[in-house]
Amino acid sequence: MEFFSHIYESWREMQYEKYEAIFRELESANASVRGKTVVDVGSAQGFLIDFMRGQGIQTKLYVGVDVDKSAIRKLNSQLKILASAEALPFKEEVFDVMFCIDVIHLLKDKLDLSPVKEDGVVVVALPSRHESKLQRFVEDMSAEGMEMLSSFSIEGKERECVVVLRKKH
Ligand SMILES: C[S@@+](CC[C@H](N)C(=O)[O-])C[C@H]1O[C@@H](n2cnc3c(N)ncnc32)[C@H](O)[C@@H]1O
Repeated sequence: MEFFSHIYESWREMQYEKYEAIFRELESANASVRGKTVVDVGSAQGFLIDFMRGQGIQTKLYVGVDVDKSAIRKLNSQLKILASAEALPFKEEVFDVMFCIDVIHLLKDKLDLSPVKEDGVVVVALPSRHESKLQRFVEDMSAEGMEMLSSFSIEGKERECVVVLRKKH
């Protein structure tokens, strides 16, 4: 795990390219994260929060979650938790927005969406080589009543597929 978080630093620029497109889409889908409570599941060392700070995107709260202790140690946020995406240690319905970027292909079990509020937004992305896993995730989520707000791909250094969903009961 230590090795992964070390080499991951070299991917920062590639991840920022994805975030730029994702945040543009969130604004145009009327799902801005500004002033919202945000959980970043599989945050690694926090490229997403670094990007948001750099862009002046201010949230009400940001919490990073990862299973990699060394990544969590490097994450520049006071609110960070060592935990698994499959069993998040939060109360139900506390976050307005959940990001889960380049993570669900690594999970053995389902992403835990219980901490997302009703009408909250879930942003899930994967490199296009894992598109079938994203497709399966969307099918499962639709069966659970989640509403698709947006689905798009990013043609960057790494082609990325992104879905933005709204949680419904
Ligand atoms: C490819 S990185 C993506 C990091 C970040 N989301 C980004 O946008 O750059 C995948 C991250 O998922 C984490 N991860 C893997 N399995 C996990 C799990 N079960 N729960 C939480 N995080 C997990 C890894 O430790 C790693 O930091």
